[in-house]
Amino acid sequence: MPRLTTPMPGSPKPSEELAGSSPAGDAAAPVTVQGAASAELFGPGVEEKMRITGLNFFYDKSQALYDVSLRIPTNHVTAFIGPSGCGKSTFLRTLNRMFETVKGTRVEGDVRLDGEDIFDLDVTSVRRRVGMVFQKSNPFPKSIFDNVAYGLRVNGGLSRAQVAERVERSLVRAALWDEVKHKLHESAYGLSGGQQQRLCIARALAVDPEVLLLDEPCSALDPIATAKIEELLLGLADSCTIVIVTHNMQQAARVSDYTGFFLMGKLVEFDRTEQIFQAPARKETEDYITGRFG
Ligand SMILES: Nc1ncnc2c1ncn2[C@@H]1O[C@H](COP(=O)(O)OP(=O)(O)OP(=O)(O)O)[C@@H](O)[C@H]1O
Ligand SMILES: [Mg+2]
Repeated sequence: MPRLTTPMPGSPKPSEELAGSSPAGDAAAPVTVQGAASAELFGPGVEEKMRITGLNFFYDKSQALYDVSLRIPTNHVTAFIGPSGCGKSTFLRTLNRMFETVKGTRVEGDVRLDGEDIFDLDVTSVRRRVGMVFQKSNPFPKSIFDNVAYGLRVNGGLSRAQVAERVERSLVRAALWDEVKHKLHESAYGLSGGQQQRLCIARALAVDPEVLLLDEPCSALDPIATAKIEELLLGLADSCTIVIVTHNMQQAARVSDYTGFFLMGKLVEFDRTEQIFQAPARKETEDYITGRFG
């Protein structure tokens, strides 16, 4: 379990604790962090990429998230687990304002990306900076090359050679290049399920997102394809902040540095992954990870 061996020094000095946090960070404070005391959660050198404070989410009159507050560390993998319907996908979709495509939704609270309120930013720029990969791979009915080039062409400003270079780099980062380099202009639909999912990851990576959100990216894949994606995520975290929702607790334990447990729209506990799986602070978390419910 490689992520569990990541050194996470405890008890940083308070001055180090929020190193790199937003200039506007104080405006959003205080942040309630369930589990470890806030000062111990991020070691020195671990910076804050996103900060969510007092998030409530509504589908019309029905509330799906309640007062969710946490910080997401830069260039680490953060996983969210919890039973079906507890609000994991809803939470993920707030982080890049994707929920706005669903009519009747409403958000209260504060979501910051590098200290900036995402609701003050242009929505296209938020979605470029915070990319998303869905549960079911959804390649476009185009060639492998054109799938990955799609976002680059929409953004414009690149020569053909630059687009080709970025397509190759993204396919390499998504650990797919060797399997497709000889058939880049064939249909994406000719790829296997696991390859299609890595293609969707390559497509998301092509525009160089700072954060990559993945909603159960392996749920339709076999163990070999799943292992490939997990390995890929571990590598990506050096250059990208990864947030993954998964039903697979072993997967959360294998790939993530931090884990949050949601239950009925509330973030019950958020802590370092080894803490959540070895010594959860809350009984509800323990019941869930030991399979007593959910
Ligand atoms: N488009 C929607 N319209 C109305 N209610 C919705 C919509 N999407 C989700 N909900 C409701 O919001 C709550 C949280 O759903 P969400 O999809 O976020 O859960 P989840 O944790 O991702 O579940 P799963 O593990 O099954 O994917 C549920 O009660 C669900 O019924
Ligand atoms: Mg979901």
